[in-house]
Amino acid sequence: MSNKLKIPFAKVPVNGNEFKYIKEVLDSGWLTTAGKAVEFERKFAEQVNAKHACVVNSCTAALHLGLDALGVQSGDQVFVQSMTFTASAEIIRYLNADPVFLDVEYGTNLITPEILQEAIRKHPNVKYLVLVHFGGQAAAMTIPGQEGILDICKKNDIKILEDAAHAFPTRLNGKMIGGFGDITCFSFYANKTITTGEGGMLTTDNDELHARVKTMRLHGINRDIWDRFTSTKPSWEYDVVEAGYKYNMPDINAAIGLAQLEKAEEYRKERQTVAEFYYKNLSGIDLIDLPVCHVPFEDHSWHLFPIVIKENSPIGRNEFIEKMAESGIGTSVHYKPLHRMTYYKQKYDLNPEDYPNTEKTWKGNVSLPIFPYMSEEETAYVCESVKRILGYS
Ligand SMILES: Cc1ncc(COP(=O)(O)O)c(C=O)c1O
Repeated sequence: MSNKLKIPFAKVPVNGNEFKYIKEVLDSGWLTTAGKAVEFERKFAEQVNAKHACVVNSCTAALHLGLDALGVQSGDQVFVQSMTFTASAEIIRYLNADPVFLDVEYGTNLITPEILQEAIRKHPNVKYLVLVHFGGQAAAMTIPGQEGILDICKKNDIKILEDAAHAFPTRLNGKMIGGFGDITCFSFYANKTITTGEGGMLTTDNDELHARVKTMRLHGINRDIWDRFTSTKPSWEYDVVEAGYKYNMPDINAAIGLAQLEKAEEYRKERQTVAEFYYKNLSGIDLIDLPVCHVPFEDHSWHLFPIVIKENSPIGRNEFIEKMAESGIGTSVHYKPLHRMTYYKQKYDLNPEDYPNTEKTWKGNVSLPIFPYMSEEETAYVCESVKRILGYS
């Protein structure tokens, strides 16, 4: 293809009822948390088949509230993979607990039952796990006829906080992520599979955990903002039962979320089409590894399509990214692992040799553009550019 296209790394469409629902909020005269947030929670809980959903202003906030509700205390240790965004681990430090970083499976960037078993053997005192559904593919929480991560955690009295920032809508063995473990946290950040600009959601089936999260979400006050302004009881009549946080989501953002939620499966299918095109057109290139998908394509949210430029490639990852940019194609890196980040490296004296799969990935990882309504012409141009840059055409 001779023409040079401009293709961003990510693009979230706004083509549903966003403006209609935002107008309803503006017309209501009440611009922070109210009916739209409650409706968003109800509809999200329905979609993932969870008993409760709690909407907040980021996934980081959801993860923080979740870990607090699970009972993590100062000095506790929490398993988390090194190949993730810092939010997955920083929330452990918010509670003055310590992350125990784990390697992941090469190709999926997921913690597997085997990796977890080995970690438990080495660190038998760790009682919490932050489980990342990397890129939108679910970790093997359940495996028909075999021991999955949920079974292992139950056996070893380990509580799971699922980091599903990438994983909506994602399924595993016929069930939506969000309806499995103790607590699941989703992100609606600007480049995520559905967005509210900034935002997050926490889901749980557990009434007690839900009550704690709701209280801590809003200053440790024992009444909802919305309830304070709708019930007949005076709004000033509330108690503070904890030093909580200010993590509620305003209705303007929730209005966007409601509209995006209506399109979530359509957007997922669109991204799946792009992923399928990549698999078909890039699978013969022996200088790259494509992401490994263990689940049916329909069960993956396809938030990311991370490839790895192999060590024997004459073009390294950084040069590849530069050349893709020169061709008008946006890419990203997911991620520089946390064991290489100054804060974690220095605080915990971390050694790259302890994370061989993560290191192998990190040396060559690049995420290709993937977003709804990415045209076949655009996807084909990305594939041609990858091949040209690596010397295949
Ligand atoms: C794996 C993971 N966890 C957590 C987060 C935090 O999400 P948020 O920006 O909504 O706080 C992100 C954000 O990119 C992420 O990628």
